[in-house]
Amino acid sequence: MKLSDNKATLSFSNGKAAVELPVYEGTMGPDVIDIRKLYGQTGMFTYDPGFLSTASCQSAITYIDGDKGELLYRGYPIEQLATNCDYLETCYLLLYGELPNATQKAEFDERVTRHTMVNEQMQFFLRGFRRDAHPMAILTGLVGGLSAFYHDSTDINNPEHREIAAIRLIAKMPTLVAMAYKYGIGAPYMYPQNNLSYAGNFLRMMFGNPCEEYKVNPVLERAMDRIFILHADHEQNASTSTVRLCGSSGTNPFAAIAAGVACLWGPAHGGANEACLNMLEDIQRNGGVAKVGEFMEKVKDKSSGVKLMGFGHRVYKNYDPRAKLMQETCNEVLAELGLEKDPLFALAKQLEKIALEDDYFVQRKLYPNVDFYSGIVQRAIGIPVNLFTGIFALARTVGWIAQLNEMISDPEYKIGRPRQLFTGHAPRQVQPIGQR
Ligand code: ACO
Repeated sequence: MKLSDNKATLSFSNGKAAVELPVYEGTMGPDVIDIRKLYGQTGMFTYDPGFLSTASCQSAITYIDGDKGELLYRGYPIEQLATNCDYLETCYLLLYGELPNATQKAEFDERVTRHTMVNEQMQFFLRGFRRDAHPMAILTGLVGGLSAFYHDSTDINNPEHREIAAIRLIAKMPTLVAMAYKYGIGAPYMYPQNNLSYAGNFLRMMFGNPCEEYKVNPVLERAMDRIFILHADHEQNASTSTVRLCGSSGTNPFAAIAAGVACLWGPAHGGANEACLNMLEDIQRNGGVAKVGEFMEKVKDKSSGVKLMGFGHRVYKNYDPRAKLMQETCNEVLAELGLEKDPLFALAKQLEKIALEDDYFVQRKLYPNVDFYSGIVQRAIGIPVNLFTGIFALARTVGWIAQLNEMISDPEYKIGRPRQLFTGHAPRQVQPIGQR
């Protein structure tokens, strides 16, 4: 962090002495006012529910310029990474700060590949779940459960443990997601196959069966890989902040990542692609493209409680750059599968067109986010809607770990402990039950 020449002065109208606050500059993006000593100096807290104006940490991993619609991993634009690199190269970049050279890439791929199997006991853990359990419920349990199997990588303060936990989590997530799927449909699990790519192996574990050879479709493999790259990290979003906060107590990495999975599940975050596809299917059932206008009226009517899922973002006040890349992938996948005339895709395009022209959306700077198209791609590949968030969790695991490890290595890190503005009762006396 670079101390700025600029300083902030906070003054009060009640005669309390003003305080001067240091300002720090980042490489890009807004400077921050350092309020760490504010309570000591003034006896006051700041109030910022939802962290609208609060930087909770310093980070060198991901940068988003929401107004420009720009997303950089370690300085590289997402568009370049999505078109020139594969997911494991992206993982390497997020974890270690630089893109790998060919040797480093081969070694890293090999390390991840060698850790894709999970302890056989995991199957029995899975058996405790109902077959119709939501995959995110299963994943929250399975990821947290990993800490019971890999005792040699649970010390968050040990860099070697952190490293091996990172590799294990990246490697095992596809296996766990595929197992959750296979369990739900009562199909046999497929063991990972080491000669396939990360995305190809995932597709085989999802859609292969032990009776036949599974041939990976390169277009779908590329699409899956792109979904993983686009979801790999997104700076201090809700689930990443959850992982940091959870990890700040010194808990083990598997438990911290399980907390991230739980947070991601919500419809305002990772659950949005599931909610978005459900919304498209709902409109389709109720008349499709012809009813889009009616639906949009409901979205604009605040009393209806209806939102256009897949639109809007806390940070992007412009087109989400990932949405553009996902739209491209969507076209490729639908063409490959002969689904160009897919009615949901046509519906999505129509919704997008109206929304981009409508005053309500224009004034509020609401643009499609990545989830708007990723659901259509996943559905076309054959992934069931309730597994979408699980795929997101798989892809985001590397981001969570990179951010967690960055926090632990930061000498300024402390256990996260927000304060509050108390609005409850002042002290009062407990009355005996008969008098209440
Ligand atoms: N449909 C209709 N109106 C919307 C939408 C939407 N999708 N999103 C925001 N608005 C409106 C709000 O009602 C609000 O209107 P107002 O100013 O008249 O009160 C205004 O736009 C600003 O919205 P906020 O809720 O204040 O924006 P915030 O930054 O808090 O929320 C969020 C962002 C949660 C993503 C929101 O846009 C939303 O719920 N979108 C739909 C869900 C979604 O797609 N989530 C995915 C996020 S991306 C991801 O996790 C990968």
